[in-house]
Amino acid sequence: MSGSSLAILQKIQQIHVMYKINEIAPDVYRISIFVPEFQLQFNHFLIKDDEPLLYHAGMKQMFPVLYEAVKTLIDPQSLRWIGFSHFEVDECGALNEWLQAAPNAQAVCSEVGSIVNMSDFALRPALALKNNDILQTGKRKYRFIRTPHLPHGWDAGVMFEETGRTLLCSDLFHQNGDLVALTDKDILEAHKDSLLSYESGPLMDYTPYTHKTKEMLHQLAALNPVTLATMHGSSFSGDCSKALIALDDVMKEVWGEKNKSIA
Ligand SMILES: [Fe+2]
Ligand SMILES: [Fe+2]
Repeated sequence: MSGSSLAILQKIQQIHVMYKINEIAPDVYRISIFVPEFQLQFNHFLIKDDEPLLYHAGMKQMFPVLYEAVKTLIDPQSLRWIGFSHFEVDECGALNEWLQAAPNAQAVCSEVGSIVNMSDFALRPALALKNNDILQTGKRKYRFIRTPHLPHGWDAGVMFEETGRTLLCSDLFHQNGDLVALTDKDILEAHKDSLLSYESGPLMDYTPYTHKTKEMLHQLAALNPVTLATMHGSSFSGDCSKALIALDDVMKEVWGEKNKSIA
């Protein structure tokens, strides 16, 4: 991380950073922190149930802000599950801060994530899920889908909340800017623009396009989600299966058949 990026993140701790909370589906709360310097929203999803789940622990530097936001929704000590797609600071950087703040909380991630990362990183053992394993949190059921290297990381996976049909899709459909919490309008165009803008700078090659990418996206489409809970940018409600199938075309166009030489 560059010195200027670090300074920006330290500023998040020092000043009062605004967060926005929107209920994007029944009892699914999107807590969004916008960082103007990155032109990027970092979205965290708190899902109420007998055993509340926070999807994305957030960055360490954001923890005090996210903690205050969660406190307006639940008693943070009652948090039971902390889920994330892959090992990266915006996904799980503040995991240990949450494990300390919530004595009954446990990380939940892929088997690879548990073996390779959590065994050393987390203060307490994570719950490791196999493909299609179900986590029950009360009236809600989450299905874990293994998606290695989609969006990135060996340990990547997504969780599908089957009761309300919300797909917690991590970095898929990433859109830059300070955008509305939820839309039924197209998000793919903004997603493609964001990917293309990253391609001309240090954030190029966000996701590897592999021979398995299409199959995994089609598997997610077959779940028939009604809401896509996106980590960066607007969440989407509408024909999510169509959007996931179309996402393959966008990813293939941006990364698929390019034969880029290493600079
Ligand atoms: Fe990521
Ligand atoms: Fe992310």
